[in-house]
Amino acid sequence: MPEDKPVNVPKKGESAESFHKSLRPQAIPDFPPWLSGVQPQFSQIVKRVIYALNRLVRQAWRMGTKAFARRNPVKSKRVVLLVVATNKYLRFVEPLLASADRYFLPGHSYEVLLFTNLDDSMECRKLVEERAGRARGKVRLKHVGHSPWPMMTLLRYRFFTQAATAILGYDYAFYSDCDMRFVAEVGDEILGEGLTAVRHCVFHDKGRALFTYETRPESRAYIPPSEGLHYFAGGFQGGRSADYVQAAAECSKQIDDDLSREITAIWHDESHWNAFLWRHPHGLTMLDPGYCMGERMRTPYPSMILALDKDHSEIRSES
Ligand code: GAL
Ligand code: MN
Repeated sequence: MPEDKPVNVPKKGESAESFHKSLRPQAIPDFPPWLSGVQPQFSQIVKRVIYALNRLVRQAWRMGTKAFARRNPVKSKRVVLLVVATNKYLRFVEPLLASADRYFLPGHSYEVLLFTNLDDSMECRKLVEERAGRARGKVRLKHVGHSPWPMMTLLRYRFFTQAATAILGYDYAFYSDCDMRFVAEVGDEILGEGLTAVRHCVFHDKGRALFTYETRPESRAYIPPSEGLHYFAGGFQGGRSADYVQAAAECSKQIDDDLSREITAIWHDESHWNAFLWRHPHGLTMLDPGYCMGERMRTPYPSMILALDKDHSEIRSES
């Protein structure tokens, strides 16, 4: 029956990108509801004022949190930043790490575990050698084979499970997509008691019906229609290393199970991350969408980490 069709999947033949555009929050949310009845110009002004106030309050809150954190510093932690970048994606790594040196957990030490198939390349050697001297985040390479999109994103949890011993040598582990950029200080607020996840910038102000969870019960990433409170982004995530390694092991198992039955969840690893957090909601540190924000998106949350706009078909093509 047509009514039963889930609303959160692209129409047949519709590209994922076009589907997401249709879900993008309005630049200025339609709130409060009584505004729809008043003069358009007046309602535009009221909306702008509400939006500006919303942003201001969030900024003030963020400044307060940061001031509190500065007065109550967390004992210096050892952190690993996990990055997967094969073939063309390697070009994103240098600028990502330069931005991380500046903004990622100042006051703590961090190292980078870079999973790549190009570990023998000049580019990788340069990355390791040049950063060995001057940079905050030294790079360690882990060899992984390359497969076409979306396998490299989907297989991340397998790579992390294989590297579990190395990851457990740090207090905290965070994963960032390589096509991201730190643009403001990301501090102690991301260091929680367990896992840390980011509310997705497209869905933070949307209801459950629009979340793009996996809807096929055959997939291990399935979340029943009445379940799930938040939709999390896959682009930035982590937590205490022990918790993150455990999450990675479970997600990896679920993904392998799906693959053995030739199922790929709708949003790949992100669907499994969401399903994992739905099954294990305790101890989660939830970050606002500013920690994984579309480069050109506007939400009331100040941007801390940008998900860069890129030419998806160019970067995902193999040639
Ligand atoms: C898009 C994003 C994808 C995925 C999707 C989920 O905006 O680019 O990576 O998170 O939302 O619906
Ligand atoms: Mn990305």
